[in-house]
Amino acid sequence: MDWGMENRMSQFFQPDGHCFFLAVDHGYFQGPTSCLERPGETIKPLLPYCDAIFVTRGVLRSVVNPKQTKPILLRVSGGTSVIGKDLANEGITTSIEEIIRLNAMGVGISVFVGTDYEHESLINLSRLVNKCEDYGIPVMAVTAVGKDLGKQTVRYLALSCRIAAELGARIVKTYWCEDFDQIVDGCPVPVVMAGGPKCETELEVFEFVYDGMQKGAAGLTLGRNVWQNPHPVAMIRALQAIVHENYTPEKAGDLFNSIKHEQQG
Ligand code: R5P
Repeated sequence: MDWGMENRMSQFFQPDGHCFFLAVDHGYFQGPTSCLERPGETIKPLLPYCDAIFVTRGVLRSVVNPKQTKPILLRVSGGTSVIGKDLANEGITTSIEEIIRLNAMGVGISVFVGTDYEHESLINLSRLVNKCEDYGIPVMAVTAVGKDLGKQTVRYLALSCRIAAELGARIVKTYWCEDFDQIVDGCPVPVVMAGGPKCETELEVFEFVYDGMQKGAAGLTLGRNVWQNPHPVAMIRALQAIVHENYTPEKAGDLFNSIKHEQQG
C-alpha cells in the first residue's frame, strides 16, 4: 500500500484494527433530520469519542472547527431527496480538488445495487476510486437501500459489499443482519456497520453492534442511534467500549447507565 493511503487508513483504523465513524451526513438527502438540525451542536460533545466524522462539505465548512484534528470522511455523493422520485439516482457531488482542499482523509459514496440506477452508481464508485487512488485517498462505499429497508438480507448485503470491494472501495459500509459473518467472509476489505433508524432500546443497539463485531465487522459508521438518543454521550462511550474494548452488551449497558447517572447527578 502506498504511504499516503496507508497513513490515511491508519488514521481511520486504530491499532486494534477497529474504527468508529460518527455519521452526521443525513441532511444531504433528508434535510434537517431530528436532533441534527444544528449539526455543530450535535457533533461537539461527541467528537472526543469517535475516530472520524462522516459529513458533507457544506456542514464541514459551516460548523466544524478546522482546528479540530479528527479525520474527516467526506460524503461526496448526492443529488436526490426523500421527497424526490428516486433516492438511488445519485451523482458525485464533490471534485477531487475540493476533497484535497478540505483535507479529507477519505470519501464516502452510496451504491444502489438492484435498483434502476445500479449501473450509474457503480460506475460513479469506479470513477471516484480512479480519481482518489491517484492521491492515496480511500473510498468507502455505502451499500444503500434507499427507502427499501426490506432489502437487508444477508444475500443482498453480501452481494452489494462484494461488488463495491471488487470495484475498488477500500472500506464498505453496510447494515447489520443475521449471519453477518457471511458478509465479512465474502468481502476482501473492512466492513463497517451503519445503524439505521433509532432502535427502541439501547440494549438492542449494543446487541447488534456486539454481534457484528464478533462476526468480523471492523467497526461502525453510526449516527441516529447515537445522537437521537436522549443521552448521546453515554451512548457513544458505551458503543466505543464495544468497538475498541470488546465490551459485552450487558457491560456496555452498565457503562451507559453509569455515565447517564453521572451526567444527571
Ligand atoms: C445514510 O446513508 C447515511 O449516509 C448515514 O451515514 C448512515 O446511514 C449511518 O447513519 P445511521 O446509523 O443513522 O443509519
